Amino acid sequence: MLSNVKIPELSNPSVYMKNPKRVQEILQSMVKAGSNTVQVISDFDMTLTRFAFNGKRCPTCHNILDNSKLISEDCKEKLKELLNIYYPIEIDSSRSIEEKLPLMVEWWTRAHELLVQQEIRKDLLAMVVRESDAMLRDGYQLFFNHLHEHSIPLLIFSAGIGDILEEVILQAGVFHSNVKVFSNYMDFDESGVLRAFKGELIHIYNKREGALLNTGHFQELRTRPNVLLMGDSLGDLTMADGVQDMENIVKIGFLNDKVEERKQSYLDSYDIVLVKDETLEVPNAILLYLTGNK
Ligand code: TMP
Ligand code: MG
Repeated sequence: MLSNVKIPELSNPSVYMKNPKRVQEILQSMVKAGSNTVQVISDFDMTLTRFAFNGKRCPTCHNILDNSKLISEDCKEKLKELLNIYYPIEIDSSRSIEEKLPLMVEWWTRAHELLVQQEIRKDLLAMVVRESDAMLRDGYQLFFNHLHEHSIPLLIFSAGIGDILEEVILQAGVFHSNVKVFSNYMDFDESGVLRAFKGELIHIYNKREGALLNTGHFQELRTRPNVLLMGDSLGDLTMADGVQDMENIVKIGFLNDKVEERKQSYLDSYDIVLVKDETLEVPNAILLYLTGNK
């Protein structure tokens, strides 16, 4: 099938592609341009982190905090209610993004209001992450270390919580100098207590606006017009909208949940769809190919 691009992992049973030939062509032109023209843009929750482990759901950044001992039982109940209302909407393929957008803003706003009431202390976040079930996908060491070794910039673009996300990758030993994070950061007062969230809210459907607010970052990376994008939601597709003079983009989508209902829309918008694949095997194989290690 893929006669020129030798990436056996693209034949894994978890891999689906609408147009494998096109993927091959894009990868070929990217490898020709060289890895010094490549940048990686990835979502965090359920993209770099696992969706499930041993049949049990893994936490998002928000869940890490929600499930911790920093949150009162009453507040935990309320956050769980929100999750039960809004998560089914997030993954509902019968509703349009336009219809979901205001509801997602509502979810994030209500959740952040509840978190702010909990007077969360900054100095306890490391412990919260250490005691959580947070799990990066299998193969994360190769992913982060290889990008670092080849000086390929990695932008983690997350609607989760930046302070938690950073702590997860720090504790995993992979928060290297080539990693940059766009996310929702907590605003602490002088005594280290959470008072608000900083800046413009990032939710799953406004990553395009988030990208366009950060033109400086993309300006710095203007010599890297070849993009590898990784996400798990259709909202993640706009994360590269700020990239300047883009030449090639390969979009890899993790389809974790509601597979049959959502497969077609994922195939229509992501170049490579990974169905219930808890590993970074395929992105890693592509990175090795792009850096000439294969
Ligand atoms: P992202 O993966 O696109 O960056 O989005 C963050 C995820 O966080 C999204 O899948 C929904 C989830 N989330 C929670 O789990 N709890 C919450 O309270 C909120 C607001 C979001
Ligand atoms: Mg996600």
